[in-house]
Parts: sequence; C-alpha cells; structure tokens
Amino acid sequence: MAKRKKAAKAKSKATAKKTAKKVVKFTAKKLAASNDLPRPSAKPWGQAGRALDGVRILDFTHVQSGPTCTQLLAYMGADCIKVERPGIGDITRGQLRDVKGADSLYFTMLNGSKRSITIDSKHAKGKEILDRLVKLCDVLVENFAPGALDRMGLTWEHIHKLNPRMIVASVKGFGPGPYEDCKVYENVAQCAGGSASTTGFRDGPPLVTGSQIGDSGTGLHLALGIVSALYQRNRTGRGQRVLCAMQDGVLNLARVKLRDQQRLKHGPLTEYSQYGEGVPFGKATPRAGNDSGGGQPGWILKCKGWESDPDAYIYFITQAPVWTAICDLIGKPEWKTDPDYATPPARLPRLRGIFDAIEQWTKTKTKFEVMEICNKQDIPVGPILSMKEIAEEPSLRATGTVVEVDHPTRGAYLTVGNPIKLSDSIADVRRSPLLGEHTDEILRKVLGYSDKEVAEIKASGAITAPEKPTKAEAA
Ligand code: COA
Repeated sequence: MAKRKKAAKAKSKATAKKTAKKVVKFTAKKLAASNDLPRPSAKPWGQAGRALDGVRILDFTHVQSGPTCTQLLAYMGADCIKVERPGIGDITRGQLRDVKGADSLYFTMLNGSKRSITIDSKHAKGKEILDRLVKLCDVLVENFAPGALDRMGLTWEHIHKLNPRMIVASVKGFGPGPYEDCKVYENVAQCAGGSASTTGFRDGPPLVTGSQIGDSGTGLHLALGIVSALYQRNRTGRGQRVLCAMQDGVLNLARVKLRDQQRLKHGPLTEYSQYGEGVPFGKATPRAGNDSGGGQPGWILKCKGWESDPDAYIYFITQAPVWTAICDLIGKPEWKTDPDYATPPARLPRLRGIFDAIEQWTKTKTKFEVMEICNKQDIPVGPILSMKEIAEEPSLRATGTVVEVDHPTRGAYLTVGNPIKLSDSIADVRRSPLLGEHTDEILRKVLGYSDKEVAEIKASGAITAPEKPTKAEAA
C-alpha cells in the first residue's frame, strides 16, 4: 500500500514538472509571438515620451484639491483640458491677486501644463460640446459641491452610457454619511479629519497646519485612484468612479494619531513630553507640540540669531544609536554612563531637560552649522527653512522641484514642479493657460468641429461670457 502511494506521488510529481515545462515553453513562445507587450524602447532614457502620454483628461476642477490632482497628471504627460465658465473661469484666477489684471499665483501654481476651454455647461450647445468631450476623454475629474455635476446633466449613468471607458473621479468634503452634502474647504477638512485636534500645544487651542493636507493631500490621493483605475481599465475595458473625501484623506495622513488613540487604553504615551512632565492623559490623543510622532524623541530648538530671525531654529532628534555622539557634542559626556540618561526609557521622563541642554549648544551655532556638524555624526536634524530660503535654494531648482516659468500677463513666476521623479518620464512644467486660451484649438483639433460649426458655437453664447448690455439697452 505504502509502495503504491509512493509510486503515485512520484508519477504526479513528474507530470507536474512536465506541465510546468510546457507552460513555461508555451508562455515564452506566446509572448515572443504576440504584440501585446511592446519591446523595451531603444530611445534614450527620458526621451520615450511621458508616463501618461495618450491619456486625455476632462478637467472640471476648481480651487485647489482637484487642480492639484490634474496638474500632477499633466506633469506626468496627460493632456489636461480644463473646462471653465465663460468670462469667469476658475474662481482662483482672481483670488489673492498680486499683479493687477493677471491671473493670481493661487491659480497659476495649480494649473500648469493644462489647456483651457470655456464652456457654459448649462447652455444647450455647451452640453452638446461636453458630451463630445466625454466621448473623447479617458478621465473626468471634478470637485464641485455635492450634486453640482448631476445638475449639469453629467450623471454617472449619462457619462457611462456615452463612454463606458470613462473614469469619473471626484473630490468631496465627506464620504457618504451625515455630512455628505456639506461644502468643504481646507481647514474644515483638517478639523474633521483629526489633524487640528492633534496639532498645537497642549495648553493652547487646536491648530491647522500650513501644509494643505486637506486640499492638495486629497488631490494626491485622487491622482493615485485615477492611475489605478486606468490600470484596471486595461484589463476590464471599463471605467469606474473614484471618490476621495477630504476627511478621509486627512485622516490617512494623520493615522499615527489614531494609532496613539488606541495605545491610550494601555497606558500613557511615554514619548509625549507631557508624560515626562507628569501631566495625566485624557480620553483622546492630545496635542503634542513639536514632539516627534515616531519612536525617536525630537523637538524644535533655537539656533544662533533666533532673537531676530523667526526661522533660526532646528528640529533635533535624539536617535538612540547616536546618543553618545550627542552627549560628546553638547559637552555632557557623563550622560553616556549615567543610569538616568544612558538608556532610551531612562531618558523619556527627562526629555525636557535634555532638550534644554542641547539647546544651550544649538544656540551657539547657526542652523546650517548645526546641520553640518550633526550630519557628519549621523545625528538627524532638520533646519527650519523659510519659504524665502526654499525659493532661493539652488539644489531645488536643479532637480526641477522649484521651477521658474514665464507668463504672458504676469511675467516670470515660481512654481512647484513634479515632486515625483520618474527616470523615463521627465516632467514638462509649463505655465498655466489664460482663460479660454485653447477653446478654438480644442473645438477644431480635438472635437473636429468645422469652421462653420465653430462659428455657430461662438454665436450661440455657449463658450463666451454673456455680453454686457450697452448703456442704451440698460436704460
Ligand atoms: N458652466 C456653468 N456653470 C458652471 C460651470 C460652467 N463651466 N462650472 C461650474 N458651474 C456651476 C456649477 O454647476 C454650480 O452651479 P449649481 O450649484 O447652480 O448647480 C456652481 O458653478 C458652483 O459650484 P460649487 O462647487 O457649488 O462652487 P462653490 O464656490 O459654491 O463651492 C466648494 C466651492 C469648494 C466649497 C465646493 O465646490 C466643494 O465643496 N467642493 C468639494 C470639496 C472640495 O474640493 N473642496 C476643496 C476646495 S479647494
């Protein structure tokens, strides 16, 4: 019996081996013969087009969250057609204006590398043009208030019927639930996503951060959703809806604070300086000032010149493996062996005093001197860079992270280029379009309208702002 079992096992092993060989052979043959997979490009790196070449986006975004997403996709090579209301455009064109008569930096820095077409989406002819665009685009991106897209007649059912491959991507303030109908701006999301309650000092009110984690952060999430949906479409042949709620996006970025919320059940959060100061914890994750969010304690310390320069500070991390180097640097060699300081758990209740001692040393050096000295010893530190310093930093210009572009009405301006570097898809950062700059070009070259049809569209009022009444008409 055992013998028979052994023989059967050996036979099935041999068959499996044979089949595997066959499969490998078959697959290799098939791959070689098929045109499904392109052969690796022979073009030099960075000269074989860009990652999203061939993807066309119907960009219905405005303000910041949606435009952040579509600008990034445009940097990656997508043809981004921004649809704007005739005569008005994206509201940010005129917000926080610094140069009279020119599009604001708010707009120009979020809409680079796009084309602009003006269409009144509530005009019958405008709807007709939009339907044609829907048929020719791959992705529709929007961040209108809930229900606005449907009120334009662009329901998911309508879009999907016209173009089953279309991906419809939206930013909303909240996901389905009690707040789904609310209009939301950046700071509302920071508050509702758990960031504000955990930002600031313990004895002060909640704080919003300077980084636009609600708007730009959610735009980035949406871009990932879109690219994933495009990838899935390669297999399924059909589009899908992508939704990013700003509350969810902020929470995703603040996840370590939800981590701490759960840790609270099991005792105090020992890495928070409140622990060392003997202040009891409450029921929710508290604000932690400049405490580090990870397992290595850190704090912001004054540097030389702090009395007059609001940015003469450095973030200093007392990473355990370099503790002895820190002790030598700040003139406290005795702390290397003192049982009150020698181990990370022993240091936790004494962090305030430790950072005070380190600060006595950092105050004698500029933030860049501290950076240089500490980096040589692998001590992680971060100089507090002002926006002026960042704008002038040559290495950020060299990598294309900060880019200067020219603009016909405002002149040269700085923008943030693509922070994601792809070795074979080099970002082409171009200026933002003027309102309706590409209307004619898109009507003719993308949508294929004839001269006669373009003239009819222009006469219909679907792409132009309503004429202001003359004095005589107004009277
Ligand atoms: N032609 C005609 N009408 C147009 C148009 C066009 N090309 N483009 C927009 N509109 C209309 C819309 O149809 C809508 O009209 P309706 O409400 O009568 O149907 C109207 O313009 C305004 O849209 P809305 O999104 O409500 O703008 P708002 O200025 O009142 O609100 C926000 C702005 C940001 C609060 C809101 O859009 C929102 O909550 N968006 C989702 C969350 C978000 O992205 N927030 C972050 C912004 S950075």
